[in-house]
Amino acid sequence: MIQTYPPFPNSRPRRLRLTPALRDMVRETILTSKDFIYPLFVRYGRGIQDEISSMPGQYQWSLDKLPAEAESIAVLGIPAVILFGIPAEKDPVGLKNFAPDGIIQQAIHIIKDAVPEMVVITDVCLCEYTDHGHCGVLNVGDNRRVQLPVGHVLNDLTLDILGKVAASHAEAGADIVAPSSMMDGMVGAIRSSLDGAEFEHIPILSYAVKYASSFYGPFREAAEGAPKFGDRKSHQMDPANSREALREAALDVAEGTDMLMVKPALPYLDIIRQVNDAFPELPTAAYNVSGEYAMLKAASSNGWLDERSVVLETLTAIKRAGADLIITYHAKEAAKWLKS
Ligand code: PBG
Repeated sequence: MIQTYPPFPNSRPRRLRLTPALRDMVRETILTSKDFIYPLFVRYGRGIQDEISSMPGQYQWSLDKLPAEAESIAVLGIPAVILFGIPAEKDPVGLKNFAPDGIIQQAIHIIKDAVPEMVVITDVCLCEYTDHGHCGVLNVGDNRRVQLPVGHVLNDLTLDILGKVAASHAEAGADIVAPSSMMDGMVGAIRSSLDGAEFEHIPILSYAVKYASSFYGPFREAAEGAPKFGDRKSHQMDPANSREALREAALDVAEGTDMLMVKPALPYLDIIRQVNDAFPELPTAAYNVSGEYAMLKAASSNGWLDERSVVLETLTAIKRAGADLIITYHAKEAAKWLKS
């Protein structure tokens, strides 16, 4: 039903904007630190807190630094972190990704020991662990796959590894696994691997609708997972498509995902809205990605934008579009601003 309003002068929207108290009372979207998930990059070494040059204020941490960092996140009321690991060695299939003493597995233990109530989410993908930087096992060129280019990411062989990685993260104590490789069937494969290892209680937060975006640039420096050749367009989505987003989301729901993610966030607010409307029964997450962070940081450090107000406006807009949860590098600063 289309609502109609009596025209001016009876109808004056400005009446409800007169004072801060009135504006507070009628505000539709309230951002809180409980909405945030904070990404952490973890590497080997000791005493390391290396700033990521394209993401000022974000760091690669060594394991010994994690307890203090996890506590500083928890104190701000941020309930969850998502972990990205930088292994010591890489190989064609990313074996270290599911090593019981791998970088992520150790990081999970350390964070859960330091802050047991912290919800630890792990990114499940191969790109940080493979020597070629791709999200899966590559076609090396054999007779059965003449139609596929050499270097093409092979879907079903990759599923097997993703299942092992997810179970390994759960074994180490992860509370939620978040598959990000955009392989067809990844949610189903991970669900059955988790269930087979008696982790039927561990939820999946699927990167269901992940675009082949240029806004991931700074992340690839942060996680040291840039592809050595080619791109990710044969698995990540075309930015021009939105009907396909609903297909991706529907497949992941059918395969048993517990939550849906749209990524990136800001250029895809329409997609967040559509996914949230189409699947109101599932929580919707949005990933406010590295390039989005870098843009606001760069403009604010030049004095072109006021950082506090643009960050809070951006995060509120992502929530207004339908995100129940927001993965954001701004989480700590935004939580501080929301407190004050
Ligand atoms: C892949 C992954 C990526 C991001 C999160 N998980 C990079 C990619 O797909 O190339 C990007 C996040 C960001 O840009 O902040 N495992």
